[in-house]
Amino acid sequence: MEDPLLDWRNQFPILSDTTYLVSHSLGAMPRAARQALLDYADAWATRGVRAWAEGWWEMPLSVGDRLAPILGAPPRSIAMHQNVSVCQALILSCFDFAGRRNKIVYEALNFPSVMYVYEAHRALGARIVEVPSDDGITIPLERMLAAIDDETLLVPLSHVVFRSGYVQDVAEITRRAHAKGAFVVADLYQSAGSVPVDLSAWDVDFATGGSVKWLCGGPGAGYLYVAPRLQDQLKPRLTGWMAHEHPFAFEPGAIRYASGAARFLHGTPAVPALYAAQAGYDIVAEIGVARIRAKSVRQVGALVARARELGFEVRSPLDPAQRGGMLILDVPEAQSVARELIRRNILIDYRPGAGIRLSPHFYTSDEELEHALDQMRQILESGAHRQGSSRAIGF
Ligand SMILES: Cc1ncc(COP(=O)(O)O)c(C=O)c1O
Repeated sequence: MEDPLLDWRNQFPILSDTTYLVSHSLGAMPRAARQALLDYADAWATRGVRAWAEGWWEMPLSVGDRLAPILGAPPRSIAMHQNVSVCQALILSCFDFAGRRNKIVYEALNFPSVMYVYEAHRALGARIVEVPSDDGITIPLERMLAAIDDETLLVPLSHVVFRSGYVQDVAEITRRAHAKGAFVVADLYQSAGSVPVDLSAWDVDFATGGSVKWLCGGPGAGYLYVAPRLQDQLKPRLTGWMAHEHPFAFEPGAIRYASGAARFLHGTPAVPALYAAQAGYDIVAEIGVARIRAKSVRQVGALVARARELGFEVRSPLDPAQRGGMLILDVPEAQSVARELIRRNILIDYRPGAGIRLSPHFYTSDEELEHALDQMRQILESGAHRQGSSRAIGF
């Protein structure tokens, strides 16, 4: 079958010799990211301190602007940070938990690092409400909606759940949250670049994510979106001189906040990561997330059908509309099977309580997916995963 997206393969060096099915963890590096890192080194080497005025200082906002269209966000609504955990902590630092409205409502399948940040705020009075999942795969929408009440302050949810690929209805949950006077924080890490996102249309208050996965942007380029209508009302306590109205006045004492997205910056940014991230954004934007999603729905659907024929347990939703770009399969001794697949140069990962996670991205061929499932079948039939030759490979 003709697949024009495969023309992008030669832009990703690792695809020439590796079956790369792990973009839900680390997207493949675009060739242009290497050049961007060389450009960074050249700017440092030849422009020295002048590089700050020639672009570096602006990068946490200018790179955010480059990402914004992929998220359906307007210009100057995104501040770049290191990772999601920092962005969540920055959002929390805008609020206090002394009053009645101090509940934090999120799904039990939320990403643990996000939970750690919220849980730590119990010490300041936050009440955490975890909405349970019956099957470890989905979280019933009605249950999420019912948990949001007049005492709810924040609803920090994953758009796509990392453990199963389940897609939550962010727009519907945001409507309910707003009706109750609560704010929504959407974690887009497992959706942006793979599943369409429209922050403006959904009227989300805050969003965060990183560039490591479907955006093929590498580590160190997390993003924080704050709805323009809220920006100038908030006073983050996690702050620093980049968030000051006049940073170069070096005024002592309390901060005078900048207006707009700059108010959500803190100290010196991770400039190399911001150079590296843009190549992936540009490719995703050029292809368009709608096309990426259409291909993903087709390929993941075919994977599900084949996996079921082979008797592997599918630990992701069966309805394609409820499923993001990754598929979780459970098989006996899944962790050892995952190790053996990696040893065979088929890159996937394993998560406890879930199983083997694998995903096509726009650059994946149908043959690679068939190869991966065929090797899984062969490993299980032959017992190769029990032979002790597969060393643990992390992440
Ligand atoms: C949904 C989700 N949120 C957050 C993270 C990572 O958080 P951080 O950027 O703080 O490492 C991941 C993945 O690793 C994730 O899947």
